[in-house]
Parts: sequence; structure tokens; C-alpha cells
Amino acid sequence: ALICGILCVIIHGVIGRSWAMLFASGGFQVKLYDIEQQQIRNALENIRKEMKLLEQAGSLKGSLSVEEQLSLISGCPNIQEAVEGAMHIQECVPEDLELKKKIFAQLDSIIDDRVILSSSTSCLMPSKLFAGLVHVKQCIVAHPVNPPYYIPLVELVPHPETAPTTVDRTHALMKKIGQCPMRVQKEVAGFVLNRLQYAIISEAWRLVEEGIVSPSDLDLVMSEGLGMRYAFIGPLETMHLNAEGMLSYCDRYSEGIKHVLQTFGPIPEFSRATAEKVNQDMCMKVPDDPEHLAARRQWRDECLMRLAKLKSQVQPQ
Ligand code: NAI
Repeated sequence: ALICGILCVIIHGVIGRSWAMLFASGGFQVKLYDIEQQQIRNALENIRKEMKLLEQAGSLKGSLSVEEQLSLISGCPNIQEAVEGAMHIQECVPEDLELKKKIFAQLDSIIDDRVILSSSTSCLMPSKLFAGLVHVKQCIVAHPVNPPYYIPLVELVPHPETAPTTVDRTHALMKKIGQCPMRVQKEVAGFVLNRLQYAIISEAWRLVEEGIVSPSDLDLVMSEGLGMRYAFIGPLETMHLNAEGMLSYCDRYSEGIKHVLQTFGPIPEFSRATAEKVNQDMCMKVPDDPEHLAARRQWRDECLMRLAKLKSQVQPQ
């Protein structure tokens, strides 16, 4: 069997734990390493609980049973042992450039030429993260979307010196575990997902700040409008389908779009006053105490789980 070393898993952060579950669902052996032993114990316990719940809901991924998947995951108290024999290392430590660089330097000195070193970072640039490493050709960012067990996208972002085989192998591994990888050809701040997300946040903020729409009505535009489509087709395919193909769409609508885009305002300041106004509206639906937030996240994850099922029925892989 292939061995898959996973690095640094957590209890609070869902990311390391989710990777562990995804790799095990694909039949890979997973070793968890964290600087805090208690975090490993907690992660193993949480994974067990979560897998049982997923099984009950009929949403456990892969063809192995819960017990089979759990038997593939183990904790490892030292980093050298954790990565021994691994084909892929997925780093998930907190989003701190210096900390990540330290971990990669440590790994660089103990790994061979075959293993892939992959970072879960959401916004650190590969050129900074992997600068000066001997094994830079084997390094890549594989950025998941929270919660990764229900949202399959993984952005693959290379360092300028990353070998094409590293990208291909990571792409294949992500597919093997049921995720949906995509290639960012060149690094750019925010990669692609967050650039799109920030464009939306930016206009949402301006519209609310200018009193054009209330915060909760703004959210409805996405959840009951645009988002209905976007779970199935992207903005470019939307254009293609909304006319007789893309060329006809551009002929018909590009002038109108440019006209509206010219009315967009500057980058928002995210002022305290507007944040408080938005928060007030958000709290009417979801009070911002830990219990209400956790319950709402759980509801969101259940919805995503059902959506994933629906998508697999209408778009067989
Ligand atoms: P977290 O802070 O919850 O967990 C980090 C874990 O790393 C903790 O268990 C901690 O004990 C451990 N750790 C800290 N220093 C260490 C060291 N020197 N060696 C080994 N382990 C160490 O973080 P979270 O939210 O899971 O994020 C991890 C990464 O995933 C970050 O780079 C983040 O940007 C990325 N990410 C997070 C998403 C999210 O929504 N939380 C989404 C996509 C990516």
C-alpha cells in the first residue's frame, strides 16, 4: 500500500483533521504529527466520532468501513518517524510564514527526492514559503476550502521552480481521494478562490455601506439567487448559457457590464461603524456566541453534505 504521511493535525482547526479523513477514505495510510501530543489524541478521538456520524448519515467517503479507515490513521510523536516512507506530506500548521518556513527547512533536511511537500496555506505565496529549499521542485501549495470533507475544491499553486511532475502527482492524489483539484498556473496574491471571494465581499460591503441594501437582503441575493447556479456552473459558463454561447453574450452584454463596473467604488475601509451595522443584522439570525455559531456551522455542513449527494447524482464523476 502507498504510505501517506500527513503532517500536523489539530483539534480546533478542521484542516489537518479533514485531510487525515480524506486520505484515509482513499485507502492511504496516514501519520499525524503535531507539536502538541494532546492535539493528536484529540484529533484521533474527533475523527472517530465524526466518521461514525458520517457513516450513520450515509456520507462516509470511500469504499472502506469506518474501522478500516480508522486503522489507517495513527499519531506519531516525532517528525522524522512521521515522514518516513511517506509519498506526500501535507502541512497544516497555523498561518504564520516564519513558522511554516521553519517546518519546511526541518523537513527539507530529512526527506528524500521522491516525497511531495505540500502546504495547506490559504494566502502565503509559494515563492516565499519554499524559498531556498533544496527540494523546492517537490514543493507545492494545495489549498483546501473549509470544510474540506464537504467542499471538494483544492487549489494547486506551484513555486516558480516546482517540477511539473509534482503538480501532476498532487493532482492525481487529490482526485484519488475524491477531491476536485484545479491548477493555478502562476502564483498570485489570494490565489483564485479568495480573489473571487474578495471581489464579492468588496461589492457587498459597498452596497451595504451606501444603504442600497440591508445586510440580510444582500446575503439573500447570493443564497437564493446567484449561489443556486454557482453550486453547479461557474460564472463563465453562466455567461455561455445566458445567450447563444459566450460570443453572443459578449456582443449583447459586455457594454452594459462595463457601464455598471464603472460605477463600482474604491476598496472598502471595513470601518467599525459598518461592521457593527452588519453584525447587528447577522446576529438577528445567528447570535455571535460560540453555541449559536457552532450550531449554524453544523447546519451549514449538513446542507453541504446533502448538496454533495445531489451533485454526485446529477454529475456522475
Ligand atoms: P489551527 O491553528 O487550528 O491548527 C494548527 C495546528 O498546528 C495546531 O494543532 C497546532 O498545535 C499545530 N502546530 C503549531 N505549531 C506547530 C509546529 N511547530 N509543529 C507541528 N504542529 C504545530 O489551524 P487551521 O485553521 O487548521 O489552519 C491550518 C492551515 O490551513 C493554515 O495554513 C490555514 O491558512 C489553512 N487553511 C485553513 C482554512 C480554515 O478555514 N481554517 C481553510 C483553508 C486552509
